[in-house]
Amino acid sequence: MGEPMRICQVVAMDEARLIGCAGGLPWWLPADMRRFRWLTDGRPVLMGRNTYESLQLRPLPWRYNIVLSRRPGFSAPGCVVSGSLEESLRLARSWLEAPEGPAWRRPGAALFVIGGAALYRDTLPLTERIYLTRVVGRCTGDTHFPELVDTEWRERRCGARPADSRHPHAISYSVLERRRIPEMLPPARRPSACAGGHAE
Ligand SMILES: NC(=O)c1ccc[n+]([C@@H]2O[C@H](COP(=O)([O-])OP(=O)(O)OC[C@H]3O[C@@H](n4cnc5c(N)ncnc54)[C@H](OP(=O)(O)O)[C@@H]3O)[C@@H](O)[C@H]2O)c1
Repeated sequence: MGEPMRICQVVAMDEARLIGCAGGLPWWLPADMRRFRWLTDGRPVLMGRNTYESLQLRPLPWRYNIVLSRRPGFSAPGCVVSGSLEESLRLARSWLEAPEGPAWRRPGAALFVIGGAALYRDTLPLTERIYLTRVVGRCTGDTHFPELVDTEWRERRCGARPADSRHPHAISYSVLERRRIPEMLPPARRPSACAGGHAE
């Protein structure tokens, strides 16, 4: 087997961690949709059944779509249906490592978890990176991203755009990386790269 598969989440949330409204998104933000496509094209994506249904029961094109559901006999045309998280990870790894793949498959051992709340919550302990869109303001809805413990994540801001005629909310983009244990220690106790410790 090659390099270990990195689990990444891609999510847009408002200032109250809102992500969903009545089974869909609380907003329509075309710039964020473009970023989502740019991040996930050519990759395996993992989603819960509710999120799949919010996509009008169609797979996302140019991606290997895995849909999680415990419902016996559930089918999602154009997607692979999985009954457990463990099986989903195996499926993604096999697809990434298969010698023959579609021409649009991108290199890199990463699985992208694309929601919704149940999937974000269940995969959070395994997640190393979160591609986060912050939607400025508070919207109306019913589904929230789980609480993040700030000290566990290092945030790198990587862009922002103001509201405009097509975007009712300003948005900003960040990448959150899970901190490694040595980084959380006081500096005096951190192993240094020279001493054979882990360099970031
Ligand atoms: N803002 C964003 O970035 C974003 C992204 C994605 C989705 N969303 C929003 O989030 C909302 C949907 O979130 P949600 O929490 O209601 O639903 P969800 O996470 O999309 O799907 C939940 C369903 O997935 C299946 N499932 C979850 N964990 C499983 C496991 N470990 N094993 C097997 N099956 C499992 C179950 O399906 P069964 O009931 O069939 O067993 C469960 O009912 C929608 O409003 C959507 O628009 C927002």
